Parts: sequence; structure tokens; C-alpha cells
Amino acid sequence: MSKIVRAHTNIALIKYWGKANAELRLPLMSSLSMTLDAFYTDTSVEKTNDENAFYLNGQKQDSKQSQRVFSYLTKLQNKFGYHDNLIVKSVNHVPTSAGLASSSSAFAALAAAFCQYYNIQVDKKELSRLARIGSGSACRSIFGGFSVWQKGDSDASSYAYALDEHPQMDLHLLAVELNTNQKKISSTSGMKEAQSSPFFNPWLERNETELNQMIAAIKNDDFTALGELAELNANEMHAINLTAQPEFTYFEPNTIRAIKLVEDLRKEGIECYYTIDAGPNIKILCRLKNSKEIIERFKSVFNNVNIVIANFGPGITYLD
Ligand code: PMV
Repeated sequence: MSKIVRAHTNIALIKYWGKANAELRLPLMSSLSMTLDAFYTDTSVEKTNDENAFYLNGQKQDSKQSQRVFSYLTKLQNKFGYHDNLIVKSVNHVPTSAGLASSSSAFAALAAAFCQYYNIQVDKKELSRLARIGSGSACRSIFGGFSVWQKGDSDASSYAYALDEHPQMDLHLLAVELNTNQKKISSTSGMKEAQSSPFFNPWLERNETELNQMIAAIKNDDFTALGELAELNANEMHAINLTAQPEFTYFEPNTIRAIKLVEDLRKEGIECYYTIDAGPNIKILCRLKNSKEIIERFKSVFNNVNIVIANFGPGITYLD
């Protein structure tokens, strides 16, 4: 029976930004993320006697838009011995492709909906591996709270695990939607280009240390250490893009203005940090008590910009 499966997006505090194997989506580094309650994708899969069809937010997608979904589903079908045509229905409660990591929830939900429909018994570790093949960051969305994707060196050893599914930390994320257009450079091509930066390997060498420092910050409930390190790690990733050959950046003028505003707020004693993914939008890490003031300041500087406040979200959920 086809059931709807819900997966929440996650935002990396230690970023995945480079593939060791593109086909299997094996990463060059381990990463760590926070799953968010505010952004999610609901997906169902079922057989059809007609052609494959992919509906996103109620609209049938053309073959180009559906291609990534069905090439992924073909891999899953080949692995488990199915050869059906399928209807996939997804409703995305995330602005698509604007650096808010919609692919993490999309492929986590798709992997789980596929297994649910065919009654394939997989544990969360295996589900994480299956989601990873659709989109790397999706392997972390199988879990709620904080999750770690250990890079591994093979299909069997590269998957995410739950670091803490119910964190008590006072950590909130403000997603500032400076720009909700589709991103210009896909994460796949960005990751490839980034490896030409002279700083790529030095960054890679820091990965284990940064990951361990982040795990320690979480275990010690140390918001300051978490925020400082998340900001540093994001800036390292974007510095690599700026020093790739040819160089590129996801930043837009408003991204820099938003960074400056976070710095100003901090100077005023309002503790907050930022992280930025493969898009121009900024996500602010803060404590709940400061969120209202930060939102007000951003709205006044950025002409009533849309800001969504998020807290920890759950892992994969099967809806009735
Ligand atoms: O797995 P993808 O294609 O969604 O790439 C994710 C890349 C970043 O969001 C920038 C970093 C990360 O670890 O999520």
C-alpha cells in the first residue's frame, strides 16, 4: 500500500563539499547536520500501468524535470529486482533549489517511500545509504536532531547515524529567504569545480578535527563553540569556491549585507552566527530569546524579507 512518507531538510554545520565517487555519491569528507522541523517533503510512490510520472506540488513535471527522480528510482528498482512504472507524488514545503537543501528531504523521502511501497525491510543505516545515492545530504535526513555522515570509503561504509535525535540545546535556525530563485550552479558542479582550489586539500585535512570539535561542542551544550565553528566551516567552503579555477561564488550582494548584519548584531551583544550553503541565502544560528530581535532587524534592513524560524526536526516519519 502506498503511504506518504515525510522527511525534513537538514542544514550542515560541517559541510559536505566534494565527492570521492560521483556515481555512488561517496564524499571526500564527513559532515554533520541539524534536521529542521520547518522544512519538509511529503512523498508517495505507487505502481502504474501508464508511463512513469512525477508530480511536484500537484503539477506533473516534464521529462527533464523528472529525469533525476527516475534515474534514481531505476537504480533502486535494479537493486531490489523491480521493473514497474511508477507514479511519484511529492509536496515540497521547502523553496526548491534556493540553498535551503530541498534535495536532502526530497531524496530521503523518496528512498523511504520506495522501500515502504515495496515492503522492503531496511534499517535506518541501510535507508541512509540508499538516500545517499539520490543526494548526498539526504542520507542525514533519515535522522532527527543532530546527525553525522561518516564518509566511509565504500557504498557499505558511507552512511549517516544519529548523534542526538532529541537535543536539549537552545539552538534555533532562522532561514532568511533573500532569494528563492533556482540556484545557478548545481551542488554537483560546484563540488567538482571547488577541487581546483589550492585550499581544497588543506581544508580536507582539517575535516576530522573540525568534526570532532563540533561533536564536542554539541556534547558540552556549547552554543558559542558550535556557532563559531559552523561559521568558520561555511566560510572555508565559500573561500574554496572563490579560489577555484575558474573561481565562482554563490554569494550575492545581499548575502554580504546579511553577513555584515550578523557581525553588527554580535558586536551589540546579540550572539548569533551564520551558515550558507549552495545558494545566496543565509541561515542564522541563535538562541530562542534573541530570535525576535534578530528577525526584526533583518526585516527592517531587508524590506520585510521572509524569515522562517526552525528548531530540531524529526527523522523519517510515515504518515497515516
Ligand atoms: O547533497 P547535495 O547535492 O544536496 O549537496 C549538499 C551541499 C551542501 O548543502 C552545500 C552542504 C551539505 O553538507 O549539505
